[in-house]
Amino acid sequence: MTDSLDALKQQFDIPGKVAIKAGKANLTVIKIKTEHANATVYLHGGHVTHFQPVGRKPVLFISDKSDFLPDKPIRGGVPVCFPWFGQGRQNNSNPPHGFARLLPWTLASIDEESDGSIVVLLMLKSDQHTRKLWPVDFELGHRITVGKQLTMSLEMRNTSNDDLTFEEALHTYFVVGDIHRTTVHGLQGASYLDKVKTGKQVQEDELVTFTGETDRVYNTTGTMVIDDPVFGRKIIITKAGSNNTVVWNPWIAKAKAMPDFGDQEWPGMVCVETANVKDDAIVLQPGGRHVMTTSLSVESR
Ligand code: BG6
Repeated sequence: MTDSLDALKQQFDIPGKVAIKAGKANLTVIKIKTEHANATVYLHGGHVTHFQPVGRKPVLFISDKSDFLPDKPIRGGVPVCFPWFGQGRQNNSNPPHGFARLLPWTLASIDEESDGSIVVLLMLKSDQHTRKLWPVDFELGHRITVGKQLTMSLEMRNTSNDDLTFEEALHTYFVVGDIHRTTVHGLQGASYLDKVKTGKQVQEDELVTFTGETDRVYNTTGTMVIDDPVFGRKIIITKAGSNNTVVWNPWIAKAKAMPDFGDQEWPGMVCVETANVKDDAIVLQPGGRHVMTTSLSVESR
């Protein structure tokens, strides 16, 4: 561990800007500091756990009860769900949300752009272990750009000899001042699958507000805004290469049932997830490539 950490530090540290360290439970983390924002990325799960523009509150929620273990997902930040979402299109895939959030990713490169932003490229490639869970060959890149905005881009390549189908989500957990007063803009007119109430497609006519457990898969390619009057800010979420946005808050009972989530944490978070799931799963021919990108930025209200 120490040797490989030393090797990574030697190869990738940028003094004053990028430091590779042993993070929680000795998992390797990349600490990034730019003129505009700070961020933290774990190689475990290819997981962004922290993003904070200078002078503002953190943007990403992370549970105090989160596991930081090699075989468990991190609760909060941005889990990468891949190659399926939940239990997949047939509802029988395991582990839930796929294996990408459970595996150590490889650090491929760290670069500083001319505008001062830092770009981290992580890779996850098929191997003996992934083929047991999903019998295909692939290369998945996760490009994380930390600057005024946080931009995350999943770049998937089919290196198999056959077509393949996958689902994906950048399962982003946001900090909010109070979920009861939080609204999500940008979804009016979109249809959604309501996983809590009906399990059917519903038309969204309103701003999204929160009065109970919420778990919805919206059909949308548009920009979302989380309006947070308590923290006096708006979080703007733009995306490309994504046909779905998942909106989730576990509320009281589900929060209690999750061992890696505090019983009282649900009013302070909401997930708005850039995704391609269910009927919008991506089909790639051999050699085919697909990119899904989301960017997060913060403005005062
Ligand atoms: C959301 C799903 O994206 O993730 C929910 O829509 C799920 O159904 C939630 O409960 C959390 O999933 P997990 O596997 O991280 O507990």
